[in-house]
Order: sequence, then structure tokens, then C-alpha cells
Amino acid sequence: MKKVQIGSQEVQVGEVDELCRVLADEVESLLVARAEQGKCAVLGLATGSTPLPFYDELIRRHREEGLSFANVISFNLDEYEGLGRDHERSYWCEMWRNLFDHVDVKQENVSVPPSVSDDPDRAAAKYEAAIQAAGGIDWQLLGIGGEGHIGFNEKGSSLNSRTRRVTLARKTIIDAAPSFGGEENVPTHAITMGVASILEAERVVLMARGASKKEIVHRAICGEVGPEVPASFLQNHINVGWFLDGDAAGS
Ligand code: GLP
Repeated sequence: MKKVQIGSQEVQVGEVDELCRVLADEVESLLVARAEQGKCAVLGLATGSTPLPFYDELIRRHREEGLSFANVISFNLDEYEGLGRDHERSYWCEMWRNLFDHVDVKQENVSVPPSVSDDPDRAAAKYEAAIQAAGGIDWQLLGIGGEGHIGFNEKGSSLNSRTRRVTLARKTIIDAAPSFGGEENVPTHAITMGVASILEAERVVLMARGASKKEIVHRAICGEVGPEVPASFLQNHINVGWFLDGDAAGS
């Protein structure tokens, strides 16, 4: 893995398995340190295809090296509106399928924003309050959407945004269409942690892989900071890590 300076940001570039090992090292150190203190580690987790090999590495460490998730509290970034927990495309299901089912995390310590609610504003405020009650997020993982979204903070999301109900951008719906068997099946709304909620995490890492992310990732890292590319707000976080494979870095 090599460090590359892009604009004001230091960026880690490497093979995917190498990136995943380094990210898993970060999480492992956090989990071990918190366990020694008799405390929980609070993780902010993401869905999408990008983090899958990272989750595989965490599962491997759990199985082969005994890394325990018993003291993990986790909050997922977002959830599609209207998909119940039993819907296979819900982020709740995705997280269990891809990580939680394979480690010793306690179900009561896992939170994903509610997909169905009579009162989305109240549900969103409750989600924020739960993060605060857990002591805030220690380590937040992010992918990046095709137009620079983080979570489901689409273009136009403000720096002060909090957990809320959002309308998905056309590009987000198009990108999700294959896994839903067509655009018409993709929910039009979601609930997402806000930009401000994300930036409050002590450490934030953004992972991107593949040539399709190259342009947007560069705009996020060294373009103008603002709502046009919500991931660009990370430039001003004091403890941000950018983790790119060679294709996303364009090297
Ligand atoms: C969805 C998720 C994002 C994720 C993005 C990219 O929109 N809400 O959190 O970062 O997809 O997905 P992928 O990693 O599959 O490119």
C-alpha cells in the first residue's frame, strides 16, 4: 500500500485485500482497546458492494483468530424506506447476511435506521439519540455513491444535516436497479444518517474501488467542499482516511 498526496488529503492506495487488512487492523485495535477498558466499541457501518471484502476479513479474524465482536455496538448509515427487515434487499438483511450472522455481535447492539415508521422525523431523532447514548461513533466506514453521496446523503445535502427521510436521486435508483430486478422495484425514499451525524465520528474512513468511482472520488478528495458532492465534506474531518484501490485512484 502506498500513501499518495491528493490536494490537501493523504490517500492510501493499494490492492483491495491490502486495504481491507489495514482497515481490519484499525477495527481490531479499537475492539481490543475498548475490551481492555471494559467498554464497547461503537462502529458506524455501511452497505453496498465496496465493504464486502472488508467484512470477509473481519469474519476471517473472528473465525481463525478469535476476534470478538461481543463488545461492539453498531449503527448502520441508512435503510430503504418500506422494506421490512425480512426483505432480502433491506440493509438490515444485507448486514446480517454479510457480517453479523458470522460473528458474535449481540443482536440488541445492532441498529439500522427504521425502514417503516408512522413518524419518520421522530424515528430519525430517536436514531440520533441512540448514537449519542452509546457515546458517539468511534469508527465510521463509508462507501461513495455514483454522484458522491455518503449514506444516502444525496447531492444537495447540507453540512448540518442529521438523520432524516430523504428522496433518492435518479442515479442512485438506476445504480440499485440490477439488484432489485428493475428500477420500478427500487424504493424512492430512504432514511439516512446526516452529514453532521457522520462527521461527528471520531474516525471516518471512506473506501472506494473500481474505475467507475475514479472521477467522483477525485472530486470528493480535492474538489470544492460543499453539498454538490457530499463526500467532499470529509476533507475537513480531522481524522479521515481515504482508502482506494488502483482503479479508483486512477494509478
Ligand atoms: C448505496 C449506499 C451507500 C453506498 C453506495 C455505493 O447507495 N446507501 O452507503 O456507499 O450504495 O455502493 P457500492 O459500494 O455498491 O458502490
